[in-house]
Amino acid sequence: MINILVINGPNLNTLGKREPSIYGNLTLDEINQQMVKYGETLDEKKIKFEFFQTNHEGEIVDKINNTQGDAIIINAAAFTHTSIAIRDAILASKIPTVEVHISNIHQREEFRRHSMISEVCVGQISGFGSNSYLLAVQAVVSIV
Ligand code: DQA
Repeated sequence: MINILVINGPNLNTLGKREPSIYGNLTLDEINQQMVKYGETLDEKKIKFEFFQTNHEGEIVDKINNTQGDAIIINAAAFTHTSIAIRDAILASKIPTVEVHISNIHQREEFRRHSMISEVCVGQISGFGSNSYLLAVQAVVSIV
């Protein structure tokens, strides 16, 4: 059994309505359901997901500090580019963490090209639309 904590940061609660040309038409709930379904096809180990979304930086820090999960998948959204606090929480947790972005942050505005958390994550998946989350599940299964 693998316990995966999936964290989504600010404004990802509005997926489906938010800039669909960049972020697609699926809602966060639909993406979460796809992750569960995809997890069921990877029958090497059973996966249990915990899904958490918040618009508040400190709540992400609290969640990482308190999780008992085996791995974290995180789309820190705009906090990716600013948050030393989330970076420090990931580092201190010692939990393998995969960074996810729906869009390719390296093809966008200059301020999105730097991630504060990449250095403390196992790797980054960026630019595959909602499939970035499914690729992250595959990545977690391969490292845990
Ligand atoms: C994002 C990219 C971030 O730059 C942006 O602030 C987001 C979403 C993505 O998934 O592509 O909110 O993390």
